[in-house]
Amino acid sequence: MKSPRSLSCTCRFWCAVFLLVGASSAVHAQNLTGYWELRTPNINNDGTFRETFFHIEQAGETLSGELIRYPRGIPITGTYSDGNIHLVTVPPPPNPAMPQRPARPPIAWDGKLEDGKLQLTSNGRMGEVHGVAEKVTKEATEPPAALPLPELKDVPDSGLARTPPMGWNSWNKFAGRVDDAAVRGMADAMVLSGMRDAGYIYINIDDTWELGRDERGNLVSNKKFPDMRALADYVHSKGLKIGIYSSPGPKTCAGYEGSYGHELQDAKTFASWGIDYLKYDLCSDLEIYKDDAPTLQAIYQQMGEALQSTQRPIVYSLCEYGRAQVWTGWGAKAGGNLWRTTGDISDNWESMDRIGFSQIKLAPYASPGHWNDPDMLEIGNGGMTADEYRTHMSLWSLLAAPLIAGNDLRSMTDETKSILLNREVIAVDQDPDYKPVTSVSTDSGLEVLMRPLHDGSVVVGLFNRTSAPAAMSFPRAELPASFVGRKLGVRDLWKHEVAQMQGDSFTATVPSHGVALIGFTAE
Ligand code: GLA
Repeated sequence: MKSPRSLSCTCRFWCAVFLLVGASSAVHAQNLTGYWELRTPNINNDGTFRETFFHIEQAGETLSGELIRYPRGIPITGTYSDGNIHLVTVPPPPNPAMPQRPARPPIAWDGKLEDGKLQLTSNGRMGEVHGVAEKVTKEATEPPAALPLPELKDVPDSGLARTPPMGWNSWNKFAGRVDDAAVRGMADAMVLSGMRDAGYIYINIDDTWELGRDERGNLVSNKKFPDMRALADYVHSKGLKIGIYSSPGPKTCAGYEGSYGHELQDAKTFASWGIDYLKYDLCSDLEIYKDDAPTLQAIYQQMGEALQSTQRPIVYSLCEYGRAQVWTGWGAKAGGNLWRTTGDISDNWESMDRIGFSQIKLAPYASPGHWNDPDMLEIGNGGMTADEYRTHMSLWSLLAAPLIAGNDLRSMTDETKSILLNREVIAVDQDPDYKPVTSVSTDSGLEVLMRPLHDGSVVVGLFNRTSAPAAMSFPRAELPASFVGRKLGVRDLWKHEVAQMQGDSFTATVPSHGVALIGFTAE
């Protein structure tokens, strides 16, 4: 038996070794330098996780690095002391080209290192979110290798969307909170409100419906959408059509499963569910391919051909934010029925005004089956005045833009209904013989636009983009030659009444951010 002295001696020796090893491994474990994959549950507990890849360099207690994906290329700084980690993104400097754009608030994470994993909590716009980050190789942070793209060819015109599509889309109001019940509710409200009978036919599910792929690689919906086929049947039973969303990239813009490498398989899945409309959103594909016109055409052609091969009529909506001048021809060649021409709209005057009035020059590029899409409507979402929403509806209709409502149709005010359901304005949007809008005059925020319709009539919009009411007028002499010497019929399309000329002009006091929309007929 060992003496207490020798015991304590041995113990001291081993304890010292243990402490040394322990200390060195603790120092090792505490160095956070490397590549990490953070998984945070998406909101609504839909069973999916958002993956964020980032790189950290640790120097003493100071951390630096960057978010690699998603989002990409955003620097991060932070500290690591007493076992506490603090990481925060460094917002990019304001864009001088867009001084009115609010800078993005930084995203911060706090937490600890436990068993080699970072337990992190972020408190942002969506409330408290907990995530776990694990160390990964540099390769794991990189996007997948580029798959070969098809040779370019002209996808035949599908014959769909002869007038701009009308309907509803979940993104503007619901973003990640859309679910089966909301979509069914929207279909019911579309019928009850009279919107279906006014032409709003498509009920479109935007991003965040996806779960991932099953063992055969089939795209499956997450628990917010337990049965897509049954949902499509329900929407169809209401005399409506149903749309869905995907991305040509591995991930959608919200970080959900995209169609990358599964284009044909996904087109078949959508057709088997009874889908009638696909919004195909570029998102993470930008990390893999160049965004020049031939590459983007090939990317979109791949799904365009896949959709047509299913033999199901599926409206094809390209969403690539107007890159590489999609309107100039390649969007139609890829099989697109409509294409986004701008970044995302927001529910405020600045965004709608900037997007809407930048579109007039693109109007000559649209044609039946091939529409410019300045993004979905914000009417009824609460961020603009009724005058501003009437401008939104009038401008989108003069542009022959898709009328895709983005509000909660189950709880519309009478004012919102009066705007979305103005059949005289809808008729301008849906004119069966598309002729582009033109600018009659533009003067310090006072814009006069004119669009000829199939029956020889003309619609004129007097838009006041300034912050004070303005007297505006439209001289009769601006009307087409077919009006010369004819008696004029003049109608106010918002007041729904006959309007009067003052001598040789139509004159109105137009409220700030408002519009007078006037129809002229030769009688
Ligand atoms: C992009 C699109 C939006 C919406 C979101 C969904 O931002 O432009 O319209 O679809 O993605 O993540």
